[in-house]
Amino acid sequence: MCGIVAYIGGRTAEPLLIEGLKRLEYRGYDSAGIATIEGGALRVARSVGRVSELEERLHEAGGFAGSLGIAHTRWATHGGVNEANCHPHRDDRNGIAMVHNGIIENYASLRTYLEEKGHTFSSETDTEVLAMLIGELYEDDLERAVKAALREVTGAYAIAVICEKEPGTLVVARKGSPLMVGVGNGEYVVASDASAIVAHTSQAFPLADYNVVRITREGFRTSTIDDTPVTPKISQLELDLEQIEIGTFSHFMQKEIFEQPKVLATTLRGRIDRNEGRVVLGGLANFSKELVKARRFILTAQGTALHSAMIGEYLLEDLAKISAEVEFGSEFRYRNPIIEENTVVVGVSQSGETADTLSAVIEAKDRGALALGVVNVVGSTMARETDAGVYLRVGPEIGVASTKAFTGQVMVLTMLALYMARRRFMSPDVCARCLTQLEAVPDKIARALETNDRVRQVTERYVDRDNWLFLGRGYNYPTALEGALKLKEISYIHAEGMPAAEMKHGPIALIDDGMPAVFIANQGRQYEKVMSNIAEVRSRGGHVIAVATEGDTEIAKVAEEVLYIPECEEFLSPMLAVVPLQLMAYHAAVLRGHDVDKPRNLAKSVTVE
Ligand code: M6R
Repeated sequence: MCGIVAYIGGRTAEPLLIEGLKRLEYRGYDSAGIATIEGGALRVARSVGRVSELEERLHEAGGFAGSLGIAHTRWATHGGVNEANCHPHRDDRNGIAMVHNGIIENYASLRTYLEEKGHTFSSETDTEVLAMLIGELYEDDLERAVKAALREVTGAYAIAVICEKEPGTLVVARKGSPLMVGVGNGEYVVASDASAIVAHTSQAFPLADYNVVRITREGFRTSTIDDTPVTPKISQLELDLEQIEIGTFSHFMQKEIFEQPKVLATTLRGRIDRNEGRVVLGGLANFSKELVKARRFILTAQGTALHSAMIGEYLLEDLAKISAEVEFGSEFRYRNPIIEENTVVVGVSQSGETADTLSAVIEAKDRGALALGVVNVVGSTMARETDAGVYLRVGPEIGVASTKAFTGQVMVLTMLALYMARRRFMSPDVCARCLTQLEAVPDKIARALETNDRVRQVTERYVDRDNWLFLGRGYNYPTALEGALKLKEISYIHAEGMPAAEMKHGPIALIDDGMPAVFIANQGRQYEKVMSNIAEVRSRGGHVIAVATEGDTEIAKVAEEVLYIPECEEFLSPMLAVVPLQLMAYHAAVLRGHDVDKPRNLAKSVTVE
């Protein structure tokens, strides 16, 4: 939800900022802008559309030469997608320019106050209000003005500010939206995430909430908005360039689907002790006593992460025999939730920055729950706000459609369920058998990926259909939801996922001879029931595409198309069954000519509620 990059050092800022914006473009891509200070004067360029359009505009203008600059790629919240609303925004008196990620909630009253003071606004954004407020409070010290302004605002922000009266100073600050400072040799790169930093330095520190950093070419100083000095901890970035390069793939989503076997092996590495028949989760070590006493788990998430949380619910109940439930973060917080003693809340999030999920976890923690994070991005807000957690270790996910994070989340939740089961009642032998099966999953996913050509052929056959159903039962009901979400978000085809049995209670009315219905019909406790549901669709003219277990010849007699996945224990099947669904969505988007990695209206991490 908006990407920020800023630079101060000895190099020309513009190419570095543009390259950084391209890395961050997955966070928002409806418009982009840049400001530098050149010869003591601000230069600003803004453009609706992709970063490449801004780049072209800069090229036509002969480029910007300054070595201090800020840049932004936007996902619109306040105000439509037009040039006036693009960042950077400026004040109208002191040559201040600012980029912002987040939402200033009290912007309307601040705007009225500033208008009364004679300021004139040129956009509809909350960001311009903050830029103007900094300008209003500016005397001769940018850092002081930024702090004074931030003490007046409510909401969330990550900001980078420059001022032509102080051409050697960059001021950045954060509350609620992520921001990191990369510390190079006589230069600094500030960005929303490490992907825009790692090409320049591997040393960085994340800003904590309410922290402000004043950076010059000579050094930096960190303090809170109330002027209390802070000593940040600079550490090595856990990211290398190869992880964020597309390589030989056509899209990041494709790369991320195909790297699942490799990254899931990393998710498991060092966490399985088959000899002792147990899962070793170092991140939970300090809370094992509390976890033994746990009586109820609440898993909270949004989007794809919610689907993996739903699988987590099944896993915790089925394997660990512990009460579990799933909540949309966005709903949980506003419902006056009841948190009894020995409740564990688990926030599931790839980015660790999703505002709805974060606020739910914090709410539950404030009400006495033990808060765990199942998070991919190391050092993210969720990772820091929770008591303990388990990282996915699937590497950066850049495609907006989440794929490897989904399987990574399910993998971690499976380990969590086995960890709980073992502490409660499961014998080492039984656990060791489950772990052997779990360790086989990466190789089985590699085999499921061999369906790629077949999935493309099947997708080609139905890609012109505008309405699809995805149906599954038990563990694979959430997989059906995930298949429908993937198709919707990147191919813009309307799709609904539901429990297969629910179809008879209404949605069956939609079935006609144009409707593809994708069934997850792997071998398991509900296989026969799913077969009956398939028959119900076929007898009404619907087209059945089945995801089934290798060796199942019966299914080919009832389904028009079958996509086979390797045999596995039922509790592991979502990690395999989702693979052809991810591929199907990918091929549908490519066949329909859409921008796979940057679907319309979406952004990778949703940092506003
Ligand atoms: O970063 P998170 O996992 O918390 O993000 C949650 C959702 O916004 C995310 O899964 C979204 O639904 C994806 N675009 C789905 O592909």
